[in-house]
Amino acid sequence: MTDVEGPAIASLIQPDRVHRTIYTDAAIFEAEMARIFERTWIYIGHESQIPAAGGYYATTIGRRPVVMVRQRDGAIVVLHNRCAHKGALLVPRGAGNVKAFRCAYHGWCYHLDGQIMTIPRESGYAASGFGKHRREANMPPVARYGVYRGFVFASLAAEGPALEDWLVGVGGSIDNMIDRSPEGALEIVAPPLRYRMRVNWKFHVENLNDLLHPMVAHQSATEAGRRTASRHVEPGEKAPMAIEILAPFSNSYDFFEEMGLHAFPYGHSYSGGRTSIHAAYSDIPGYHEALERTYGEARTQEILSTNRHNTVVYPSLTLKGAIQTIRVVKPIAVDCTEIESWTFRLKGAPDELLRRSVLYNNLINSSAGLVQPDDHEAYLRLQHGLLSEGLDWVSMHRHLGEEQQDGDGGRSATGSSDMVFRNQYREWQRLMTEEAA
Ligand code: FES
Ligand SMILES: [Fe+2]
Repeated sequence: MTDVEGPAIASLIQPDRVHRTIYTDAAIFEAEMARIFERTWIYIGHESQIPAAGGYYATTIGRRPVVMVRQRDGAIVVLHNRCAHKGALLVPRGAGNVKAFRCAYHGWCYHLDGQIMTIPRESGYAASGFGKHRREANMPPVARYGVYRGFVFASLAAEGPALEDWLVGVGGSIDNMIDRSPEGALEIVAPPLRYRMRVNWKFHVENLNDLLHPMVAHQSATEAGRRTASRHVEPGEKAPMAIEILAPFSNSYDFFEEMGLHAFPYGHSYSGGRTSIHAAYSDIPGYHEALERTYGEARTQEILSTNRHNTVVYPSLTLKGAIQTIRVVKPIAVDCTEIESWTFRLKGAPDELLRRSVLYNNLINSSAGLVQPDDHEAYLRLQHGLLSEGLDWVSMHRHLGEEQQDGDGGRSATGSSDMVFRNQYREWQRLMTEEAA
């Protein structure tokens, strides 16, 4: 049995390397669910998924089923998705709308805030003292939940940093995605792409800020795209949107180095900023004008020149503000991870923006796209390669000690640095070894 207690678990993380078993050991995975996912802030969903009273979205925090619900006064609450009677899920995973929650097993009914409403044949409980007056007859709220500009997060731990403080450095990535809407608002208009990979969740969370892989792992797909385009697009003619999206994945080492990395407390990070693979997309007619009407010229320039590549809100949310997609990480088992990839509509922007975001999701993020399958293949090779006992450690040495301290509480480094991974594992070690409050 693997020892997952303090000193043993702490020793798996060193300043310049991590032990291979953190990706392969089922006991470590169980400890991660309890100490990371079920303790820190986890992304639940976006407020636009539940626009009307009674709208709900049921999902999980680690292994635990929860549901976010829109109240009649417009507020959002996050409840444990569990009947107070014998424990059945009140609603299956996914979205819906109810006047009240009615359990499918014996019919206990709950108000939208989780308070018990009716218990069929309640008089039978009288002798036991149980009944609707007892607090344990309600669906309880989760320990803490909060909404950051429409993005709903929840935590199963009563103690911990406030949501706004916890989002240090990466709240700005959410802000930039919202600011790209002429109305300052986002909307989810379709269900996500959802797929499972037979790999550990941490490979995805690391890979999104791994700028040393695109020109290798994505070389064949992007070069095929470029070749096809060169045959069909006349010199001087604008390339199709799909090619604009795909081609930068095989940009040079220097390009990705230049993008740079930024790391923050709590394991958060982002790559890019001034420039990224999203910086050279063509203008969409009417979009600039719509933004300028809201923000004026200078602020519009500022919004559109912030081109972060991937932001990791550790451990569960990864987002791309510049193309309005997010990917939500759902660990299932030590070697199984589910990804949900959502697109957002920028309210008040031309429809072409949503088309580009959907195209990006299908072409890049989808398990049937041209880029994600390359990453998936790399994760599978990692998952299998790390079963080897030939070497025990995974290298995190690159550009060690070459990080700059920034004024915003973060640190920055050249694009190919392992700084972001070292930062994630510092937080992993802190959460895995910290006593629960
Ligand atoms: S388990 Fe829900 S009413 Fe019995
Ligand atoms: Fe990739």
